[in-house]
Amino acid sequence: MDIAVIVGSLRKESYNKKIAEFIIERYKDNVNMEIIPIDKLPLFNEDLESNPPIEVKEFKRRIKESYGVIFVTPEYNHSIPGGLKNALDWCSRVDRVLVNKPVFIIGASNGNVGTARCQSHLTQILNSPGVMALNLPSTHVLIPNVQEYFDEENKFIDKRTIKYLDKVVAKFMQWIEKLK
Ligand code: FNR
Repeated sequence: MDIAVIVGSLRKESYNKKIAEFIIERYKDNVNMEIIPIDKLPLFNEDLESNPPIEVKEFKRRIKESYGVIFVTPEYNHSIPGGLKNALDWCSRVDRVLVNKPVFIIGASNGNVGTARCQSHLTQILNSPGVMALNLPSTHVLIPNVQEYFDEENKFIDKRTIKYLDKVVAKFMQWIEKLK
C-alpha cells in the first residue's frame, strides 16, 4: 500500500466508500491505494495512548508506512463524523503518524454544499499541532447531491467529477513526489 484511504462513513452502502473504491480501481495502474478501516478503533483514551489496543497500533502502523492519505468523508451535523475525529485523535498522540504526511480531502453528501463545512473543520484539525499533516493546498473535491451521481447498479457515473478527480489525484501524486 502506498496511499492510505480513510473513509469517514461506517455505513455499508456509503456513497463515500463507493467513491473511495472507485478511485482505488480507476488509478490502480499508477498508484497502489487501500482503504484503512476506522470502524474497529476503540474510543480514544489518553490513559491508553502509550500502549494502545492492537487495532490502534495496526491502524497507526499502516498510516505511518503510507506515502500519503486521502480522506473521503461525509459531513455529519456540519462537521466531521465522530469516528473520523476519533481516528485522528489516536494519530495525534505519542508517535504522531500524520506529522508532515501529505493528505488530501474528498467529500460527498446529499446536501447542497457537499461537505464544505466538514472540510473546513477537517482542515483545521489537520493543521493542529498534534496532527500537523500537509494538506494539498487549494484543492477541494466537494460532491453535493451525491445520490444523483450513481446509476441503478450503484456505479459512480458523474463525468464532470470523474474528470476533476483525474486532475486532482494526479496533482496529489506529483506533489507527493516533490515532497519525498
Ligand atoms: C447527515 N447528512 C448531512 N449532510 C450534509 O450535507 N450536512 C450535514 O450536516 C449532514 N449531517 C448528517 C448527520 C448524520 C448523523 C447523518 C447520518 C447524515 C446526510 C449525509 O450527507 C448523507 O447521509 C450521506 O449519504 C452520508 O454519507 P455516506 O454514508 O453515504 O458516505
